[in-house]
Order: sequence, then structure tokens, then C-alpha cells
Amino acid sequence: MKNKHLLTMDALTVAEIDAILFDAHLFSTIYKDWQFPDNHRVANLFFEPSTRTQYSFESAQHQLNCKVTTFNEQTSSVQKGETLYDTVKTFEAIGMEALVIRHPENEYFKHLVDKINIPILNGGDGSGNHPTQCLLDLMTIKEEFGDFTGLKVAIVGDIQHSRVASSNLQAMEKLGMISYVCGPKEWSKNLTNYHPLDEVIEEIDVLMLLRIQHERHEATMQMTKAEYLSAYGLTKERMNKMKPEAIVMHPAPFNRDVEIDSDLVEHPKSRIFKQMENGVYVRKAVLKRAFGYEFPTEITK
Ligand code: NCD
Repeated sequence: MKNKHLLTMDALTVAEIDAILFDAHLFSTIYKDWQFPDNHRVANLFFEPSTRTQYSFESAQHQLNCKVTTFNEQTSSVQKGETLYDTVKTFEAIGMEALVIRHPENEYFKHLVDKINIPILNGGDGSGNHPTQCLLDLMTIKEEFGDFTGLKVAIVGDIQHSRVASSNLQAMEKLGMISYVCGPKEWSKNLTNYHPLDEVIEEIDVLMLLRIQHERHEATMQMTKAEYLSAYGLTKERMNKMKPEAIVMHPAPFNRDVEIDSDLVEHPKSRIFKQMENGVYVRKAVLKRAFGYEFPTEITK
């Protein structure tokens, strides 16, 4: 590969996924304070709102001793009609060594990868892909269960519009996990693994909730929040039916009392804030991969 881009989960082999997760684990343990030996200039270009992805990338970059530039679309020449391609070429020309990009267009990177000589780390493309979210989800699952094969995961909610669902479904198949998609049937993309949540709630190991992606919907939803919660969300009743060792995840931002009863956000089964913490380790690992560094002492699993 010319550059260590990170664009989709499909483009990663199982060995590459394992290597990133292992590095993320080392960043969370013995290499918490390890930094790149050189300062690298990185820029974060977010064309869609973001809290976790943008600021955990930024935190990871600062911890690794990078020099960080934050792009602001509102005050940039995008307002004068500049294209994404020309914006990205500009950041390369002014000396950036890697770019994190989030953009509303699915696969925006397709037009860029062959013409840009610095790594692009995808922070989310439309309803397409969200590889670092998927990797931090996998890290959280692995910490809990040690392995992936045979684990049963229900992904619940707006499957059709969710890049988190797409990336996770790609990776879970690769890793031998059994996935169910649940929630409103019309949002299930006609996937054959659709099941009403109540059919699978007692047997799953991981419940992965999704936010309703209103910004990607053409029509406004007809259901009230309370109706959605009771039909598809995580209620106390459903939580009580889950296996003792099962966990609850959500990429966030979560809508309290829509996808999840507000009282359950910090329930002992919830790993929502653990996912955010792991997001920093995973983003450190993908930056390390992009710049081709090795840890000072080789450690094997
Ligand atoms: C997700 C995203 O932007 O795709 N958020 C995130 O990165 N943690 C999920 C969402 O917005 O629903």
C-alpha cells in the first residue's frame, strides 16, 4: 500500500484488525505515555458535526506529540465554492503529513486516494463507513470476551442510515461473529439477519444501540420518543432479560429515553463511556500505523 490510509473495514484483513487492536491494547497499558519520536503535522477536517471522533482523534494526536491543525469549514474557502479535492490538496501542499476527514458524501475518499500522497484516516463518510468507531467497538468487545468467534451481537435501530452499522456488519462477518439487525423493519436494509429485538434479547452477548439518523431521513418520523423506546429501545424490562455477562454499547451521541431509558445509560452492563475511552487508544494505534512506527520493544501476544 502506498499510504497507510484507513478508509473502510472491508479493506482491512483480519491480521490488520488484530494488529491495530493489539497496539490499542498496548496504548491502554504499558505504552500509555509513549510518543512519536518526531513531531508530525496532522489536520482534522470535519465537514459534519462531531464530538467524540474529532476530539478523541485530537486527544490521541496531542498524546503522541503531533502538531494539530483544526479545519473550520465555516471560515474556509469551501464557502467560496472550493471543492473537497482542492481543499485536501491544499492541506497536503502546506505541509500536513496526515489528514482525518469526516464528510457527508458516501465514499468521498474514492476521488482522493490515488492523488494524495499522505494518509487519510476516515472519520466517517455519510452513511457509508466509520472504521475507527468499529475498531473501538471491537476493542471494547474483545476486552470483555477475549475473542470474537461465535459471539452474538444485536445491532438495533437505524441500520439503513448508519455508517457504524455498516462498518460493524462488515467486520463482524470477517471475525466470525453472529449478527442480528433489529429495530424498525423498514430501516433494516432488507437484511436477511433481521429479527425483532424481543426474539433475540435473551441470547445475545452484545447489544449495540444506534441513534436515529434524522439528518439522513427524508421524512420526519411519525412515532413519539416514548413509542420508539417501548417498541425498539432498551427499556428496563429488556435489560432484565439480558444474559448476566452481556453488555450494552452505543456509539453516542445517545438520545436519552429514545434508544435507551435514561436510567440505563450508566448501568453496570453499559460500556458506553468505556467505548469513548477506548476510542483514544484505537486512534493512537491507527496514527501509529499511518506513520509506520514500531514500539521501542517488540512485544508479541
Ligand atoms: C456516530 C457517527 O458520527 O457516525 N457517532 C460517533 O462517531 N461516535 C454515530 C451517530 O452520530 O449516530
